[in-house]
Amino acid sequence: MTSTIGKWATALAFLVIPAAVHAQQPSKSDMRRLIDENMRFAVKQYQVLKDSTPADRMPRTFQQGRSVTSDTEWWCSGFYPGTLWYLYEYTKDPAVKAEAERRLAILEKEQRYTGNHDIGFMIYCSFGNAYRITGDKRYKIIIDTAAVYQITRYRPSINSIQSWNRNKKLNCPVIIDNMMNLEQLLWVTQQGGNPRYREIALTHANTTLQNHYRPDHSTFHIVDYDLDKGTVIQKVNGQGAHDTSAWSRGQAWGLYGFTMMYRFTKDAKYLNHARNIAQFILKHPNLPADKIPYWDYNAPQIPTARDASAGAIAASALLELGQYVDKKEKEQFVSAAGIMLQSLSSPAYRAKQGENGGFILQHCVGHFLANSEVDVPLTYADYYFLEGLLRYKKWYL
Ligand code: GLY
Repeated sequence: MTSTIGKWATALAFLVIPAAVHAQQPSKSDMRRLIDENMRFAVKQYQVLKDSTPADRMPRTFQQGRSVTSDTEWWCSGFYPGTLWYLYEYTKDPAVKAEAERRLAILEKEQRYTGNHDIGFMIYCSFGNAYRITGDKRYKIIIDTAAVYQITRYRPSINSIQSWNRNKKLNCPVIIDNMMNLEQLLWVTQQGGNPRYREIALTHANTTLQNHYRPDHSTFHIVDYDLDKGTVIQKVNGQGAHDTSAWSRGQAWGLYGFTMMYRFTKDAKYLNHARNIAQFILKHPNLPADKIPYWDYNAPQIPTARDASAGAIAASALLELGQYVDKKEKEQFVSAAGIMLQSLSSPAYRAKQGENGGFILQHCVGHFLANSEVDVPLTYADYYFLEGLLRYKKWYL
């Protein structure tokens, strides 16, 4: 593994290291301006993104001067429509709404997707926002259907939802990202749906808490299970630098996921876990002053690539967590999230208008060691960035 890392470290020596930004908590009036300016910018950027995305595809990234798109089975297919709904929520721009509706129409067929665990990202981030904003019952029926299919991947012998199918290296992988998909299950039960969805979500979260986390409150990316024996075979760091490292986006998914678990359950064990993850991130010696992490907290080649997506997800999660903690911790979390959003809004991370294929943020990392999506824009970075901005406006201004 070290030699692979060495190889990429050399190959990626050209990577942009964003210039340090002034890392001070922004004032309320700064944040008001920053949110408004970002939303106006994003509407224009997303017009470019729309024009570069065929009507039957979803945007995925922009690489070497070319737009890369995906089909709707790709795990990220819900983020582009979801981001459009956030933009519509703020701007009430009918053109943005029309584009969001067009993209939902091509995504709708994925409500029965069972190829992996990501139906929560795909359907809840898109149709969930559409329903929340419009109240259109047709959207709720689609989310309800998605929950039916989501739990077909629940494996009682390991008390978890299986993330990916068996492959050459992994028997029954469960990845930390799966915490995010639980929101759809909890929401459907909360809205009067089958209580079984909530039971499965809680069981999965409890298993994750027990098996994914290390004593320092960092998480492995993958826990691989033996389905027959119900035991853990191995714990590995698929997208991270090595098996004992802390992959940045995984830490952010966990922070967001356990904060969300507390929202639905009010169980203190989830809250305390989320607080511990937050402290792991914010007190990490390798977290830069602008609070946008490198792609892995233990990437041996630091400083090279940041992962703006991990920063955006963590910012949004910290803002929610700030709602549930005492004044001192709230100040710590909201201040850190404000710095993250401010950093992401700066030229170090945000694209120039009309560039970056129409995406808002630059400098994200999909899978560094596979040299896949390294130092590029990604749909979920934009999605959680806008979500964070809207959360800041709703709760702290
Ligand atoms: N869920 C896959 C990733 O975060 O890259």
